[in-house]
Amino acid sequence: MRRGNSVTASAPGKINVSLHVGPLREDGYHSLASVFLAVSLREEVRASLLDEPGIQVVLSPDSTLDVDPETIPLDGRNLVHRAAALLASHCGLEPAVRLEIVKRVPVAGGMAGGSADAAAALVACNALWECGLSREELAALGSRLGADVPFCLLGGAAVGLGVGDELTTALVHGELHWVVVPAAFGLSTPEVFRRLDALREAEGYAAPEPDSVDAAILAALRTPDSHVLSTLMVNDLQRAALDLAPELRDVLGLGESLGALAGIVSGSGPTVAFLCEDTTAARALADGFSHRGLVSFVLTAPSPGAYVHP
Ligand code: C5P
Repeated sequence: MRRGNSVTASAPGKINVSLHVGPLREDGYHSLASVFLAVSLREEVRASLLDEPGIQVVLSPDSTLDVDPETIPLDGRNLVHRAAALLASHCGLEPAVRLEIVKRVPVAGGMAGGSADAAAALVACNALWECGLSREELAALGSRLGADVPFCLLGGAAVGLGVGDELTTALVHGELHWVVVPAAFGLSTPEVFRRLDALREAEGYAAPEPDSVDAAILAALRTPDSHVLSTLMVNDLQRAALDLAPELRDVLGLGESLGALAGIVSGSGPTVAFLCEDTTAARALADGFSHRGLVSFVLTAPSPGAYVHP
């Protein structure tokens, strides 16, 4: 909904409860079969009309993350900037917009924070400029910005094939409880994929083309049964992330010793996500991390896809 000269939208970060990585494709991406789950940690983008043409991107002081400006360029390389420019050119508009990002999802953390920014920017600008594009049309544009943008637009839970952009909604008839532990450092997604390729090559392993996900995971999500789900979670990128950042093993071990049902590296990492039995268990786990000097977030899932705030 556009009210006056500004629109605020948000989009969720994600956890992959299952991620199978296939071979490297000619376009530099890997084919995937994944189950995406959107979580209640949401990026927000406030878009306001400017008098002068141009796209200005700023970080909001309301951000809950202490973001090092070095890690987030605010110029034409920023995904929010690129999303606004792409939508404007698609709709034949000259952009004159200020975009304020409220950062909550860890930067370079494996939770699709950048893709969530792009998804929120697309939805905010679509409303601000009254472009009238559908979610599907925005997803087609968004997939040119990042493989996870279509899922951040869709939200909820979904099976992702292709590079993660061919999505089918999955059902979750309840709430799942998570604690995520961000790392003090980032991991480069391409580097994690490259490390997996190198580990596999050293073993002489040729990954098959992944074309489906485990039906048992979808059944466990549907109920949802966190105990069953915790025994089925799998992430092919985890070993590569652990190879690059062995200290994550300690975080995984600590969370499980403090009562999590299971821990998993989120996407390409280094954020680690722990599935908990219920909200009480999640809060107790977060307290346990806090006593050991680790920051964590208590989250629920599924969270809706990108939407404009009323
Ligand atoms: O699309 P996005 O910018 O998020 O991807 C970052 C990088 O991660 C890609 O350039 C590619 O190296 C790697 N990637 C991949 N296969 C995917 C998704 C990402 O190899 N399905």
